[in-house]
Amino acid sequence: EATRLWGGRFAGGPADALAALSVSTHFDWRLAAHDIAGSRAHARVLRAAGLLSDAELSGMLDGLDGLDADVRSGAFSATVADEDVHTALERGLLERVGTELGGRLRAGRSRNDQIATLIRMYLREQARLLGGEVLALIDALAAQAETYFGVAMPGRTHMQHAQPVLLSHHLLAHCWPLVRDVLRLRDWDTRAASSPYGSGALAGSSLGLDPAAVAAELGFDAAAENSIDATAARDVVAEFSFVTAMIGVDLSRMAEEVIIWATKEFSFVALDDSYSTGSSIMPQKKNPDVAELARGKAGRLIGDHAGLLATLKGLPLAYNRDLQEDKEPVFDAIDTLHLLLPAMTGMLATLRFDRDRLESLAPQGFSLATDIAEWLVRQHVPFRVAHELAGECVRVCEQRGIELDELTDTDFAAISPHLTPAVREVLTVAGSLGSRSAVGGTAPVRVREQLGQLQDRVAEL
Ligand code: ARG
Repeated sequence: EATRLWGGRFAGGPADALAALSVSTHFDWRLAAHDIAGSRAHARVLRAAGLLSDAELSGMLDGLDGLDADVRSGAFSATVADEDVHTALERGLLERVGTELGGRLRAGRSRNDQIATLIRMYLREQARLLGGEVLALIDALAAQAETYFGVAMPGRTHMQHAQPVLLSHHLLAHCWPLVRDVLRLRDWDTRAASSPYGSGALAGSSLGLDPAAVAAELGFDAAAENSIDATAARDVVAEFSFVTAMIGVDLSRMAEEVIIWATKEFSFVALDDSYSTGSSIMPQKKNPDVAELARGKAGRLIGDHAGLLATLKGLPLAYNRDLQEDKEPVFDAIDTLHLLLPAMTGMLATLRFDRDRLESLAPQGFSLATDIAEWLVRQHVPFRVAHELAGECVRVCEQRGIELDELTDTDFAAISPHLTPAVREVLTVAGSLGSRSAVGGTAPVRVREQLGQLQDRVAEL
């Protein structure tokens, strides 16, 4: 006979089809330890309200400790007859302390305020773990930026050669969004730190229980201000899931670059053998599967987020059973990132860049044309004119199949008397990089500074 948390007003048990649809232990079991922590705190406020004696409280806490140990060891687990994690754990408690004492714990709480609290506890824990994994990835990228400091590469817009940049600047450009993702998790936590426990089903408790005491014991900053909101809202889950999707998107953009960089045509990077895969038919293949899985799983993370928002849309207040559907998407997002982040970190940490190739491609495709225009501006030529003249230099080069630095003094003079031989000072990659020395620019002195700023920022996190 199943131990249900309801049944008094029903003539028989639920239909098998309903029970099968309703059951959630296969995914909410991961909240078991948090449920028990909530029960301990709840038992203490029952005691404070005079609803348990000291002896009853200590019997209850012993029972919960035993249950906790058995859950952790695997000696106790949910059975097919348990509807959800709460039901299973109540059964476990009753088995340990008897129905007379065990049956007192549920006073003044509902699975609605319980589950809303447990999901917050679990997500707050996961936010810290995921943040740590993102920071490890940032460290790996920053270490590569250090290793390859000084190497220039072609910076692109529209995938076309645009201007030379330092490889380190480009790698750091992938770090900052990840820093913001960690900051998003930290900031999210301030909103997640509000405890629904004590809200009951929706209207609050009549038993003189102290929600603030439960909140404090469970590590929350405060008890929720509104019991209806506390049990019905899942924006805190949706916001967390947005951050996981954003991390997925940030990883995917990085992954896409690695995939392109590893092609024969680009040949910017070699993947380490331990982070590449082979082909079952083509013996020569070395595939960037980690990066491709990152790109693919970003779609999955976006789907998890979109699905959750769709579940919430149109739900009236307060609790509706639809809300049970908040868990699988966000758990899937968490599990996905725990697999993906270490693999991405390892792949990025072991990438080997081809310095010579990056350096030699950096000035190609007329990527120094902007430098000619800006040099002219420094000679007091209006930018409109300077842009035209630099464009003309490109046109001449294109006609002759040469690069900008191959134009002779005579060629320059023929285009404009403003283009004196001194223009050559910016027709080198080093000259171009060095000139972009404003804050945030790719000049080596700025990028060196930026590396320090990143490290300081990360150290604060
Ligand atoms: N398992 C539910 C959830 O995950 C909590 C139980 C609430 N059930 C109920 N009948 N009020 O949201």
